[in-house]
Amino acid sequence: MTDAYGLFGYPVHHSWSPFIHGVFARQTGQDMCYRLYESPPERFRSDVVEFFSRGGYGLNVTLPHKQAAADIVNELTPRAERADAVNTIVRREERLIGDNTDGAGLLADLVGNMKLRWKSPRILLLGAGGAARGAVEALMSLKPRLMVVANRTEERALALAREFAELGEIHGCEFSDLEHQRFDLIVNATSASLRGEVPLVPIDVVDSRTTCYDMAYGVGDTPFVAWARRLRAARAEQGWGMLVEQAAEAFALWRGVRPDTAPVLAALRSRAVNPPRSPA
Ligand code: ATR
Repeated sequence: MTDAYGLFGYPVHHSWSPFIHGVFARQTGQDMCYRLYESPPERFRSDVVEFFSRGGYGLNVTLPHKQAAADIVNELTPRAERADAVNTIVRREERLIGDNTDGAGLLADLVGNMKLRWKSPRILLLGAGGAARGAVEALMSLKPRLMVVANRTEERALALAREFAELGEIHGCEFSDLEHQRFDLIVNATSASLRGEVPLVPIDVVDSRTTCYDMAYGVGDTPFVAWARRLRAARAEQGWGMLVEQAAEAFALWRGVRPDTAPVLAALRSRAVNPPRSPA
């Protein structure tokens, strides 16, 4: 029987994950299928239990279930425990292990695909929600000289900085506190792009050496990427690479083989630039 995997989210119909995992499976010769499961919050737990009781092998979990998934599993990996969020569930015999591959995906894109190399960079993380939580550990592994988490609601940034303090010095603040500070890397982990907005950050944070990275992705430039280009940032990227790399990390956990991400990323990028046209 083909091994069953899937993605639980709400909504989830727009997801690229079946395409990504389908290509990975063909590339590595794995006999598996990957389906989307639209599961509202009130049904999430029972839907997951049903998936595994029917013999399912592993799951991805996306909004709004990442924190709920951390409560369902039998065990958390250290990185999932720190993020308090699970995006990948691995079944080991009768136990469910919750992991979080988002941070590793971000790092693989920044360092592996974009080939960014810094010596103790100045890093700014925008946002203090679930997406930001998943990125902090990965960004701290770059050994930043300065790590700032800025958020529209300052208290959430301060709380996040406190919570991750064991990883090193992290400063929490609101956007206006960023005036007259420049950064080597700015990661947008707010959900502003999803609403067509840009976080109201002082423009001095960007100069011609700054790399700007939006964890959101879409057809054409996201608002944050367009903003960074207007400010003549050295580079501005949206999160297609992170999407593919977090998937590759999950795939490797499930199947024990690491897929080649480059062809998938190229295919997604060309689709994003040339979206399918609806028939006239
Ligand atoms: P996610 O799990 O995607 O991170 P979340 O937990 O709801 O979602 O967090 C959304 C983040 O985006 C928060 O940091 C939010 O800022 P607040 O804490 O002040 O709400 C941020 N955000 C959303 N829209 C924004 C906007 N237009 N400008 C700036 N920040 C925004």
